[in-house]
Amino acid sequence: PLYKSMFGLSELEEKLRAAFGLKQVLIVQGDSETSVQTKRELGRAACQVLRATIRPSDVVAVTGGTTLSHVANQLAPTASMKDIWFVPARGGLGESLDYQANTLASTMAKRTGGHYRLLHVPDHLGEEAFASLMQEPNIKEIVSVIRSARIVVHGIGDAMVMARRRKLEHDVVEAMKADGALAEAFGFYFDRSGSVVHKMQTVGLRLEDIVNTECVIGVAGGAGKGEAIAAVMRFGHNDVLVTDEAAALEIVSLL
Ligand code: BG6
Repeated sequence: PLYKSMFGLSELEEKLRAAFGLKQVLIVQGDSETSVQTKRELGRAACQVLRATIRPSDVVAVTGGTTLSHVANQLAPTASMKDIWFVPARGGLGESLDYQANTLASTMAKRTGGHYRLLHVPDHLGEEAFASLMQEPNIKEIVSVIRSARIVVHGIGDAMVMARRRKLEHDVVEAMKADGALAEAFGFYFDRSGSVVHKMQTVGLRLEDIVNTECVIGVAGGAGKGEAIAAVMRFGHNDVLVTDEAAALEIVSLL
């Protein structure tokens, strides 16, 4: 590897856990930005956390993304995974199908023998379309299930990378930049201090739902995501962080 760890991984885990007041930090070796193997390990570690956290009849809301797809594709059924409902954390049909939250929720359900519900609503909605969609009984029902999630599993992205992936308008991106947007998670954009500087008008989890969720599990790695991960941890509503050594070392250097 290009970097050399000066800490043992468990020492690093404790350092990050204490710095952000988390319940648990799990760090896998390597850099998932450059190694698919590490990204797979990251996914596997998140599965471990989920297995230990989940209780029968839980509702689990998941975001999309390449990292979460490594979680979904390595889940296996366990005794604790009885009658679990997997739902997407938000709408968001903008991404490639393989990485959409809907796809990952259904994969998780199929792999564990659980259930899933889908939310077919695009990310960018005008006020009017949004308001009328929210009056639809079907949408209302699934949204209330999503908002009742006891567990949220989410990816974290660099704000500008995610803005590009979501094809946000130039003006919006410039305004976000001016506001110091560094990180993105569940459709919210955060500055260095963890304040929300931009929200997507979206059906699904609202900020207050995240704040009130019993167990919020962030899964993200790679040296390039260090700053973004730190920003989301400063937002202060995560319980668990699953990351890799490269991101962890980057985060420690920012503390
Ligand atoms: C998106 C999530 O689908 O994936 C975001 O909605 C997250 O919250 C992003 O930031 C991360 O994607 P990846 O591919 O870098 O794991």
